[in-house]
Amino acid sequence: MGKLDGKVAIVTGAGRGLGRAYARRLGALGARVAVSDINLRSYAEYETEAKDMTAESTVAEIEAAGGTAIGVECDVMDRGAVDALVRRVIDEWGRVDILVANAGGGRGRPVDTRASTLDPALLQLVTSMNLFGTVYCCNAVAPHMKAQHAGKIVTVASVAGLGPSRDGGYAHYGAAKAAIAHYTRYLAQDLGPHGITANCIAPGFIMTGRVVATVFPNRSDANANFAEMVALRRLGTVEDCAKVVEFLTTDLSDYVTGTVIAIDGGLVRWA
Ligand SMILES: NC(=O)c1ccc[n+]([C@@H]2O[C@H](COP(=O)([O-])OP(=O)(O)OC[C@H]3O[C@@H](n4cnc5c(N)ncnc54)[C@H](O)[C@@H]3O)[C@@H](O)[C@H]2O)c1
Repeated sequence: MGKLDGKVAIVTGAGRGLGRAYARRLGALGARVAVSDINLRSYAEYETEAKDMTAESTVAEIEAAGGTAIGVECDVMDRGAVDALVRRVIDEWGRVDILVANAGGGRGRPVDTRASTLDPALLQLVTSMNLFGTVYCCNAVAPHMKAQHAGKIVTVASVAGLGPSRDGGYAHYGAAKAAIAHYTRYLAQDLGPHGITANCIAPGFIMTGRVVATVFPNRSDANANFAEMVALRRLGTVEDCAKVVEFLTTDLSDYVTGTVIAIDGGLVRWA
């Protein structure tokens, strides 16, 4: 018996990186998983991600491990597409128990995204990807979870949403992630009477293929320098985050809602 046997989960941004790890973890626990991404082969963009794949897609990996999954390409910035994703899941499996609203990320260079000189186009894009995408997904699953009088929602912020960078760069991303964390607190109050929990995770430095390629390119000393800022003296893995998602999507967290959990190894960000 898996802890999530009989449950249905949706994970957005699950073509690679953290979302892929969440989808695989929920599948291994017995949930039927809708693996969603704007591009279900997004792993091809980064060498480390592509090398890590054990099958042609996250869906194929879950199926190869004996689980059940479907793949649905969906841009979370498109409200109609998000509604169609949830309709597809309901048509296929008749319910939705878990949402991990993981799709998101930053765009642009820190120098173009300082708080006082923020490029409006980047602000618009990053707010749409992160905040609007999260809200659309939560709004789409809420009526079904209310009808079931049960559900578990996990949203994804970042340590950048908990405190600023020292130079004020990447302000658009930090503000969007802070908004997700606070939105989740409101969501928990709204949905709590319906038996639904809503919690937010705030990852720190997690070594996905994208982070390896873009944050630490050609810097052999960088891992050690960044790790020095972390109490546990190492950078995070996708499994470190998937373990917390397991907690927040199983009965272990039944009386936990409206929280924001940092998964950062005890990071002191800008000391
Ligand atoms: N890796 C980290 O260190 C870290 C730290 C803090 C927060 N996060 C957050 O965790 C989440 C995943 O991070 P990651 O490192 O795995 O990122 P990633 O870029 O490797 O993966 C993101 C996935 O989301 C998909 N995606 C992007 N835009 C989308 C859209 N509009 N609609 C649907 N799918 C879309 C991409 O195709 C990709 O597969 C993001 O929300 C990110 O902001 C990551």
